[in-house]
Amino acid sequence: MTCFLQVLACLAGVVFGASADCMVEIGDSTLTLEGIISKRFANKEWQENRTVPDEMIRQMLEYVLKAPSALNTQPGRLIIVDTKEGKERLAAAMHGPNPDHVLSSSFSVVFAADPDPPLPADAPDFAARVLKEVSLHQACSPRAWAEKQVMLQVAYFLLEATAHGLNTNPMEGFKSPAAVREAVGLPDNHGVAVVVAVGYAKQAGFQASRRPLKEVCFRGRFGTPFGSV
Ligand SMILES: Cc1cc2nc3c(=O)[nH]c(=O)nc-3n(C[C@H](O)[C@H](O)[C@H](O)COP(=O)(O)O)c2cc1C
Repeated sequence: MTCFLQVLACLAGVVFGASADCMVEIGDSTLTLEGIISKRFANKEWQENRTVPDEMIRQMLEYVLKAPSALNTQPGRLIIVDTKEGKERLAAAMHGPNPDHVLSSSFSVVFAADPDPPLPADAPDFAARVLKEVSLHQACSPRAWAEKQVMLQVAYFLLEATAHGLNTNPMEGFKSPAAVREAVGLPDNHGVAVVVAVGYAKQAGFQASRRPLKEVCFRGRFGTPFGSV
């Protein structure tokens, strides 16, 4: 397995021109973070019947759990759906073309959010007060607050999967959070941030357009250009 990862990492390093700075270690080999970011795209067609090994999934999840969260509350709850029955249940909760992604990919991850996570044992004394008076106070709801934290884990996961030579499609198109909760047995109060399908792309993806930096990045105040570009 390590060998397989090394080959993937070396290939990507060649394609994306790995340089000594900004290296991400995978096994004994390396990919640049910029290379991983550039390689990721939202995949729409999957190599069916090609599954991702459990050990690779576990490895990815361990790094995803390193994502930061407010007051280190870690409200993310991740459900891996990889059995035929589980996929069918989850697919039935998805909208539009999204059921196909759940069914044809190797597995999906439901990124759920606990709106009332216990503080970690090493939380400072003031954490409970800050959580109540600042974090939750600023969010439109505890569930929205929790989902905001979880989206960082989603970003980590998309990049981590890409680094492992996998493809992903993040999906917010589900029939309702309740339908997803029902499909994977989540408690009623939990939010559902996104469902990510994971596997191997049937063909090379394309880079979707992005708004130019000068249109969306400002310096100091909204509307003030960041620079002369
Ligand atoms: C939060 C979120 C929700 C999305 N929901 C869906 C979805 O329901 N179905 C789908 O096929 N793609 C979905 N996408 C994929 C986006 O359409 C895609 O990321 C976007 O068009 C940019 O393309 P790229 O990811 O290839 O750069 C979603 C992406 C994000 C980040």
